Amino acid sequence: MQLKSLFSAALFARGLFAAPAAGQTVLRFGCSQIVVERLDPLVNPDQNPSPHVHQVVGGNAFAPEVPSTDVSGLANCTTCSFSEDFSNYWTANMYFKALNGTYKRVPQIPNRGNTGESGGMTVYYTSPYDGSKVTAFKPGFRMLAGDSAQRTNGGITKWNAICFRCYTAKNFGGDNDAPCSDKTVDSVTLPSKPCPGGMRTTIRFPTCWDGTNLDSADHSSHVSYPETGTFETSGPCPSTHPVKLPQLMFEVVWDTSSFNDKSQWPADGSQPFILSMGDGTGYGQHGDYIFGWKGNVLQTAMESACFGATCKALKTQAFTDANKCAVPVTVKEDVTDGWLTTLPGMAN
Ligand SMILES: *[C@@H]1O[C@H](CO)[C@@H](O)[C@H](O)[C@H]1NC(C)=O
Ligand SMILES: *[C@@H]1O[C@H](CO)[C@@H](O)[C@H](O)[C@H]1NC(C)=O
Repeated sequence: MQLKSLFSAALFARGLFAAPAAGQTVLRFGCSQIVVERLDPLVNPDQNPSPHVHQVVGGNAFAPEVPSTDVSGLANCTTCSFSEDFSNYWTANMYFKALNGTYKRVPQIPNRGNTGESGGMTVYYTSPYDGSKVTAFKPGFRMLAGDSAQRTNGGITKWNAICFRCYTAKNFGGDNDAPCSDKTVDSVTLPSKPCPGGMRTTIRFPTCWDGTNLDSADHSSHVSYPETGTFETSGPCPSTHPVKLPQLMFEVVWDTSSFNDKSQWPADGSQPFILSMGDGTGYGQHGDYIFGWKGNVLQTAMESACFGATCKALKTQAFTDANKCAVPVTVKEDVTDGWLTTLPGMAN
């Protein structure tokens, strides 16, 4: 209740989101990190280690390969506060590159209004703003948002899908508009100036499905962004992908405060942060999803006008319990501690 009121007061009053329409569901919940390593069971299921490091949250069925079955039957715990969500969600990590060429991982912190998570991210599931029918993901469903190889603007910005927010002061200063739409604090590239209050990335997934395929070779073709407009403007789905999905969205918040000293930034005026796939632009930001909710609970929740991190249709757990869920590290290399001479898996 406290979180819900904080969420509504702090976020809605500031216009971070339009107030939900009658009957609309906006789930917003934290998930702690379950593992940080070079694995990617979606894009590189045959590679151990995979090309770059990810930070992963969710159920403990995460492994080098995750079978395309009902993941909720493979996992028995989750780092998410909704305890029936055994999905896995993952993104790139971010590193600071020092002037001497070494790298240090930038710590992740809980999002606005959240407490208790260890690193990780905030996950959102939003039903359509126009109240139209929504179809929850099915067991075996998986998808990708963004493209880790992208280094120029690939057009995903059209749907406000991926961006970075530069907080102007501690405690989320400057957080006063919908993600990716406030040009004074949002950018599709990594921010060019130090962010006194840290940085956030937002990743919105496609919201239209072909209704048949649980996955596709590029992990994207079976889904689509709206044909015109955005999910927020109730843009229509294309006829090839007519089924409306909940909008899955990730937010990751980084505490950049120990790296904001401009004297430690490159003399050429470039910014020093780099994503784990060796991307200093930010255009390669991406998110990965393997659905793993138990039974039909996500569909029920999407139809229950739920809001924030509580929902009468869903069971929750405290982070003191969620944080006990773990998966063993399978790739033995240093990805988090100390100053690294190279980005793991990268040539330099
Ligand atoms: C939970 O899953 C882990 C990893 O798969 C397994 O080692 C453990 O035995 C399971 N525990 C229970 C109580 O099923
Ligand atoms: C590289 O620079 C960082 C940041 O100034 C410093 O902490 C680290 O000790 C340096 N490493 C070496 C090998 O000089």
